[in-house]
Amino acid sequence: MTIPTTTATDPRLTQGRWLRIPGPTVVHPNAVQAQTRDMIAHRGPAMYGFMHELREKARVAHRTESEMLFWAGSGSAGWETGIVNLLSPGDTVVATVGGAFGERFAWLGEKLGLDVRRVEVEWGKAVTPEAFGQALDAAGDVKAAFITHNETSTGITNPLKELAALARAKGALVLVDAVSSAGAMELNVDEWDLDWTFSGVQKAWMCPPGLMMAAVSERAIRASETAGFKRFYFDLAPMLQAAREGSTATTPAISLLFALDAAMDAIHEEGLEQVWERHIRLGKAFRAGLEELRVEVLAEPGYQSASVTAFHTPNGMTSSDFQGRITDATGIVIATGQGPLAKTVNRVGHMGWSELPELDATLEAIGQAMR
Ligand SMILES: Cc1ncc(COP(=O)(O)O)c(C=O)c1O
Repeated sequence: MTIPTTTATDPRLTQGRWLRIPGPTVVHPNAVQAQTRDMIAHRGPAMYGFMHELREKARVAHRTESEMLFWAGSGSAGWETGIVNLLSPGDTVVATVGGAFGERFAWLGEKLGLDVRRVEVEWGKAVTPEAFGQALDAAGDVKAAFITHNETSTGITNPLKELAALARAKGALVLVDAVSSAGAMELNVDEWDLDWTFSGVQKAWMCPPGLMMAAVSERAIRASETAGFKRFYFDLAPMLQAAREGSTATTPAISLLFALDAAMDAIHEEGLEQVWERHIRLGKAFRAGLEELRVEVLAEPGYQSASVTAFHTPNGMTSSDFQGRITDATGIVIATGQGPLAKTVNRVGHMGWSELPELDATLEAIGQAMR
């Protein structure tokens, strides 16, 4: 079978750089190479040594001394694994909801039987500490807070540090969806006292999809010992035990772990803070380019994301028409909006292995499609 690829001919768009959706992102070339390595025995010294090193690299990238665990699965596995290990049916949680992903985190909690108190904001706005604090106070005995750090559907970054501090002051566990923030923006798991911080490797971690990674606090591990949900594949206990030996509870996605290891090396080589600064710079540059084209960014100023930008589809076009026009003319693939914004908003990812040339090419393509 022939897999369709882009027809992009712009020299700035080599090595997959035409893919400008907010994940899966362009895979780092070293990660592409790494995943072609031969298999190793998943229970044996080669694996144990490798996993200890990878977990250490991941700890540094999350600024944590805590446990780092990996499951074969996509980012969504992070929602479910966090809920079923840290909580019990009937527990009260307060959740940030300002877009498709916050909505889904809250919805999953409800589906699994939690009492979810939503802090709803208009899509394109951030959840403020004031609103979050009020919801925490109103909720009474809150077991946990669900915080979507970066809302990929709107290009909003919520003030995680402040929101987490309010939740911790109430004694609540803090579960953080860092799917489109981890690896792209400041994330201090230990300093911010976060309990369950998860992401999928197909975003800023520059890997193919299929691996979920989570930083798990000691408090979260203790909570899991009395949590009331039934679980098997996502159970923390066997995964933790295996991790301490340097393996995983079930057969791991070894090729993806190789890819992640190479991507982590690339991040540490560039420098974690330099990576975060690059994302801030790219976000600013992309938004400035849109402003020049008189295209309106969806996210409110002050909370605009460094990893993804959502904008109102220009000139009254539907977002899928606009997307199609760009791809037909240039090979560049951008995303449409989601949920209520599906037809009126487009999104461009600038996370992971990204630099200015491909964003410039994307801005040119947007301008051309408008004309
Ligand atoms: C913020 C956020 N959370 C969760 C998810 C779900 O991740 P996945 O599609 O990898 O299951 C996504 C996917 O884009 C996301 O952006």
